[in-house]
Amino acid sequence: MRVLGIETSCDETGVAIYDTDRGLLADALFSQIAMHAEYGGVVPELASRDHTRRLLPLIQQVLDEADMTRGELDAIAYTAGPGLVGALMVGASTAHGMARALDIPVLGVHHMEGHLMAPMLEAAPPAFPFVALLVSGGHTQLVEVQGQGQYRLLGESVDDAAGEAFDKAAKMLGLAYPGGPQVARLAETGNPGRFRFPRPMTDRPGLDFSFSGLKTHTLTTLRQLDAAGELDDQARADVALAFEEAVVDTLVIKCRRALDDTGLKRLVMAGGVSANARLRERLGHEAEKRSAQVYYPRGRFCTDNGAMIALAGARRLLAGERDEIGLMKAVPRWPMETLKAPVGD
Ligand code: KG4
Ligand code: ZN
Repeated sequence: MRVLGIETSCDETGVAIYDTDRGLLADALFSQIAMHAEYGGVVPELASRDHTRRLLPLIQQVLDEADMTRGELDAIAYTAGPGLVGALMVGASTAHGMARALDIPVLGVHHMEGHLMAPMLEAAPPAFPFVALLVSGGHTQLVEVQGQGQYRLLGESVDDAAGEAFDKAAKMLGLAYPGGPQVARLAETGNPGRFRFPRPMTDRPGLDFSFSGLKTHTLTTLRQLDAAGELDDQARADVALAFEEAVVDTLVIKCRRALDDTGLKRLVMAGGVSANARLRERLGHEAEKRSAQVYYPRGRFCTDNGAMIALAGARRLLAGERDEIGLMKAVPRWPMETLKAPVGD
């Protein structure tokens, strides 16, 4: 089955074609980052308009790349949520319009399920069951995954998501949006040990996260440095490093706990923040100590993309799941634990 995947939930237009026999045939992405950068964050209305502009040409691009015509598509999967409602509507309406014209099935997919399945695009995919750390701009969750659609939420952020915390810290440091990669780059020149930031909620049991206190701590530290006339480039790099270490350490401590609590030996990480090199290295090291395995997608499939949606959708479409044609889904808030396993799983 050849499935066209469409992702338009936020600020990237992602399109891909996934073949359930042959794997990924083509994928293309247009990032709106440059457009939103001057506003310091995503402007929803601009995002929707740009998805409208980019989507059809990108679909043509992946068809050309896969040497296929529209008529050779067997099904369409699109991101139905969570995300910005206007942006989601662009993908949903295009998917439903094409499905009606081509007379093929169409299915709305959960964005975070897409992230969670992204490591399965790689050569050595994880087997079920596993613990998943989902860390993106909007979510920080630990989930026990028995199979696709079989999710038990172990813990989540009670306030900011990890990626959001990176983005806010970046803003305070005078760095551009999105902040994660920029903070990580600046941290490379930081002196370890000059500042030690708190590891929120690690001193009590449980698997929930909180990152908003870390944000305040960062701001206070920067203000103190500024008042003392010490806020130079080195000090900024030192703060970036202390911040990154605190976030990474917190995530690692909770992942360790989740593996212990569940007794599972496989950890999957996905979502934009899973591209973070320090996080990958630290989690790899922890996993090795307890003979567990860590899985993550290649860099460009950590952040939003069409391939993960095509893959997650293909597995459900194969099992016979589909939307009623014309009944577009755009669900801004949609808890992942409410999903069910594909029929037949
Ligand atoms: O999954 P994603 O592309 O979009 C959402 O679904 O939110 O994640 C984007 C988030 C942003 O907050 C960005 O700052 C963060 O992922 N991010 C990173 C890195 N690359 C992206 N955070 C830390 N280190 C990175 N290398
Ligand atoms: Zn995402």
